[in-house]
Amino acid sequence: MNYRIASIKGDGIGPEIVTQAQKVLNAVGAVYGHKFEFTELLMGGCSIDVNGVPLTEETIVKARECDAVLMGSIGGDTRTSPWYKLEPSKRPEAGLLGIRKALKLFANLRPAYLYPELKEACPLKEEVADRGFDMMMIRELTGGLYFGNRYTKEIDGVITAVDTLTYNENEIRRIAVKAFDIAMKRRKKVTLIDKANVLDSSRLWRRVTEEVAEDYPEVEYLVMLVDNCAMQLVRDPAQFDVVLTENMFGDILSDEASMITGSIGMLPSASLNETKFGLYEPSGGSAPDIAGKDIANPIATILSAAMMLRYSFDLDREADAVENAVKQVLKEGYRTGDIAKNGEPTVGCSMMGDLIAERV
Ligand code: IPM
Ligand code: MG
Repeated sequence: MNYRIASIKGDGIGPEIVTQAQKVLNAVGAVYGHKFEFTELLMGGCSIDVNGVPLTEETIVKARECDAVLMGSIGGDTRTSPWYKLEPSKRPEAGLLGIRKALKLFANLRPAYLYPELKEACPLKEEVADRGFDMMMIRELTGGLYFGNRYTKEIDGVITAVDTLTYNENEIRRIAVKAFDIAMKRRKKVTLIDKANVLDSSRLWRRVTEEVAEDYPEVEYLVMLVDNCAMQLVRDPAQFDVVLTENMFGDILSDEASMITGSIGMLPSASLNETKFGLYEPSGGSAPDIAGKDIANPIATILSAAMMLRYSFDLDREADAVENAVKQVLKEGYRTGDIAKNGEPTVGCSMMGDLIAERV
């Protein structure tokens, strides 16, 4: 089959890590007889440099014409990059939020799995790391605080900033259904994370999710407050299967979940709409400090490409092949700097891409 993939390499380490994922997809194509056609599109800081805005209509239209989007990362150093002298709606991050909204990518899947080979890189207590963990964090991606009305103005002579957190029942229901559907294919447990002891929006999340849970009697349904969850993730991450949460809590908790896998460079993500279309990107950022040095970890991006094969193209066998190739290189002891033990030899970003591609 022929698949059209929009490739948004972006800024910082984005270009080098996406190039490795393309390498691996081309290897999959060669072995399994598919053709992956990449359309390179601009978004983020690199789009600001060329077009003056982080996201153009052209990028949105061309992305829609493809079967899926493969993305690297966007943004730069917020203290030194000229992009952050622009007004907030013209900065790189606005491009990412804009494309998520334009493509209606409301469901963000971030699987956090501790590879047995990387136990040593896990910062948790040995007995916790020994138990391992395998969770799917599901973050609502197009609502809540990141999309609410916001402004900064003087009120009674005092500069005041306002951000609004809004959710309606439909936005909650569609992602809750996604979470329970995914749980049915896993260990059949959903934990809703909220702040229902304080926030009205969280109380609505509980009400709607509880209704959805009634349609899935086989799935165990639990609720947990977000502050407790931040603590439980480092105390006993094995307790989680599917973790369902709103936009900002998911943003924060998924970084925490990635770090306990050893490195943020290991965590892939899929952002899906109601159809098979999705945008696939590593959970980590653009890491401008290490950009262009060929030391970034491309595994999260390569695993994101595997999620694309699975969720957008229904190519389970091919997705398994990529995930197994990643396991294989880890088993053989190859490490990028972020997941290496002190003094252990490391391989660069491009070499890691080659090693995984060869093992597909
Ligand atoms: C992420 C990132 C983005 C987000 C930023 C860059 C806007 O942190 O994908 O988690 O908050 O969604
Ligand atoms: Mg984030």
